[in-house]
Parts: sequence; structure tokens; C-alpha cells
Amino acid sequence: ARSSMWGGRFADGPAAVMERINASIDFDKRLFRQDIAGSKAHCRMLMETGIIPRDDGAAILAGLDQVLQEIVEGRFAFSTALEDIHMNVESRLREIIGPAAGRLHTARSRNDQVATDFKLWTRDAIDGLDARLTALQAALLDQAEAHADAVMPGFTHLQAAQPVTFGHHMLAYVEMFGRDRGRLRDARARLNECPLGAAALAGTGFPIDRAMTADLLGFDRPAANSLDAVSDRDFAVEVLAAASLCAVHLSRLAEELVIWTSAQFRFVALSDRFTTGSSIMPQKRNPDAAELIRAKTGRVIGHLNGLLIVMKGLPLAYSKDMQEDKEPVFETVETLDLCLSAMAGMVADLTVNRDRLAAAAGAGFSTATDIADWLVRELGVPFRDAHHVTGAIVKLAEDKGVGLEDLSLADLQSVEPRITGGLRLDSAGSAAARTSLGGTAPDRVREACTAARQRFLNP
Ligand code: ARG
Repeated sequence: ARSSMWGGRFADGPAAVMERINASIDFDKRLFRQDIAGSKAHCRMLMETGIIPRDDGAAILAGLDQVLQEIVEGRFAFSTALEDIHMNVESRLREIIGPAAGRLHTARSRNDQVATDFKLWTRDAIDGLDARLTALQAALLDQAEAHADAVMPGFTHLQAAQPVTFGHHMLAYVEMFGRDRGRLRDARARLNECPLGAAALAGTGFPIDRAMTADLLGFDRPAANSLDAVSDRDFAVEVLAAASLCAVHLSRLAEELVIWTSAQFRFVALSDRFTTGSSIMPQKRNPDAAELIRAKTGRVIGHLNGLLIVMKGLPLAYSKDMQEDKEPVFETVETLDLCLSAMAGMVADLTVNRDRLAAAAGAGFSTATDIADWLVRELGVPFRDAHHVTGAIVKLAEDKGVGLEDLSLADLQSVEPRITGGLRLDSAGSAAARTSLGGTAPDRVREACTAARQRFLNP
């Protein structure tokens, strides 16, 4: 059958396979709330400007409310023949209110309509992700406060570097997720210009009021250029980019949890609620959620790549290619939402093995820098020379098969005779000494927790 929406100049209907490749209703039905909100705003504006009669406008508004209710209650029959959410809604509206429904599409195109719907959806999605990120930061902050003074090895190259505190390590992720929230906030601010009124691509000759529709839908202003308004998908790409970076942060934390929960590390333990067992090896407690979070980063980055590639060669203005913009964003938001929730749960339930952390903190000569610093501070030795002397001390400990803290004063003096007592080489002392701004000392970490709560949880 010919389309009732655009079939005027067609003699025949589309092939079944044409209908299948063309239809987006299976995924864009998710936009129903935004589509109806956008249509209601457009209709109000058409009434206020006198472009459509008031009684028709009133019928349209009431009819749209009924359509919304039918969809919410699961009584709406979505049709593939009607391609997308826009035509499904409008067609049902016509069934409900009759020919007046035909006035709704005055001074509008599906091109500005879909851009508006998708922006509204993405704006809500950003707000949802921000709430999830905040909850994750709160869980990390709770752990950071509880273990502000738990000494652990800090790594570079995954080799023991210098002792740090567990709280400090958690706060590193609080910062990352804070920047992720900032990127989403930036994307939201740039997104918030209303495409409605751009019509198909060129604007319209009807005396529309674009400021009114922008305002009714909570946009900051109308988009300035009609061609750009219907062909811009920067907002979708920006959200995918912010989501990708956030997924990378989640993946790094997930990777650390996988390492830390291994039998060789046992730094932390995950709860029963966030681990699984093995069907053959009874001793196993596997960090599946962490592994899946790490893996799902692949999808998210894939979606960013996918949409960039869809957009890269498109001439202005709208091309049907852009119908492929929605699934990657829907799927990314769903995936990230799930990963953020699972990570927040894992972190909240985490038990920290403080004894293991402390025992590991001194391994690998991790306080060697403290010797060099002491030589600089107490003897006035230039750092590079102190580094050299300390290297010899590390070699001595290595030859003796002991840790730095096990060397006697005589041992130390055999390398540098000017060394006296008062050189502390325990890992807790090492961490406590790092009091510079942003440093790992427990007192600094406690201050940083308070500041982070203020900045991120009650700004
Ligand atoms: N379903 C379409 C999309 O998602 C709506 C816009 C269709 N516009 C058009 N000129 N065919 O992009």
C-alpha cells in the first residue's frame, strides 16, 4: 500500500525488504515521550501564532495525550509500515481526532522533529548518567574515608614504586569520574539549542515562534542555522566520546579489582553479591562483574567509532544515514548505566585487607626514595648523588636478601658513613611524610575527602 504520509506521488508501495531496511520504529519507539512533548510544543506555538485554528490545536493536544497514554499502557500497536515513531504517533492521532491531525505537521519536517526528539532524549540520558556517576563517587569516597590511612604499595610499571594510602587511590578515581561528569555537563550545555523550526532544512515561510518552542521544551535558545540544526549530530558524538572516556576509567578500576582480588595479591575482597563461583573449581570466587565492565568498554568505544564513521562523509543537510545515530547512543547509555551501577555496588561492598596491603607496601624496596630524600634534607646532598647512594643501599639489601627496613645502621653506614639514626624506612612513615598538596599522607587524604564531598556531592 502507498504511504498515507507521503504516498501522493507514488503509484506502488514499497517492497517488503525496502520497508524492513527503512523502518526505525523498532528502536526509535523509545523516543515516544520526547516525540509527543515536541509535537505538543509545536502545536501550542502554531495555535499562539494563529498558524492553525485554536479548536484544531486543542484537539491535537488532547489527542496527543491520549496517544501517550496508550503507549505508556502498552495498548499502542506500532507499525513497521509507518516507518518511525513520528509517523506512528501522527497516524494514530489522525485515527483519534480525524483530519485536524493533518495540521500538526505545518511548518515542520521529520528532520527537525527527529533532531529535537533525540536531543531531548540525550539530555535526559545525560542527567541519568550524572546521577549514576555521583553515586559511584559517593561509594568511592566512603571507602576512601574508611581507609584514608591504610598503606599500600603504589605502583608504576606495576612495579612497587612508593607507599601510598588506599584512600588516596580511591580518590584518584573520584577525580576521574568528576571529569566525566564535567564532560557530560559540557555536552549538555552545547546540546541545549532547539532544532524545531528548521523544518526540512531551509526554515519555513510560516510566521513561527522558535523562541517559544525552544522555551516550552527547556532549551536555552533555538539553533541558529536551519541547515546545521537538522544535520548536527555533534551532541550524540560528544556523549559517546564522554561515555567512552568514562568507560575507560571504569575499565581501569575494574582491571585493578581483578588484579587486587587475585590470590597473589588479596588486597581486597569482593562480596558474594558481586562475584560468581566456578562449576568445577570449588575454591573460586571470580570477579565477573569487573571483567564484564572492562570488556563492555569495547562496545562503547565501538559505538563512538561507528557514529563518527556514519557522519564523516555526509553532505548537508539531512541524509537517511542519520537514522543510524540512535542505536549506538541508546546502547551506550544502557551499557554505561549498567556498568556504573555494578561498579558502585562492587565498591560499596568491597572489603579492604589492610594487613595484606601493609605487608605489601614495604616490599620491592618501596621506601628507597625516602632514603634519598633523607640524604638531601639532612646532609644537603644533591638529589642525583643521593639517588646514587641509595641505589647502592638497595643493592646491599638485595644482596643480603632483606628489605630496606631490615638493614642495620651499620649496614647503612657502610655505604654512607654520615647516615645516623632517625632515618625511618617503614611504609607508613613514608606515606605519612608525603604531605604536599594532593599527596598521599593520611591527613591530606582526609582533607581531600572532605573537599571532594563538597565539590562533587553537594556543590
Ligand atoms: N526516522 C528518521 C530518522 O531517524 C526520521 C527522519 C526522517 N526524515 C526523512 N527525511 N526521511 O532519521
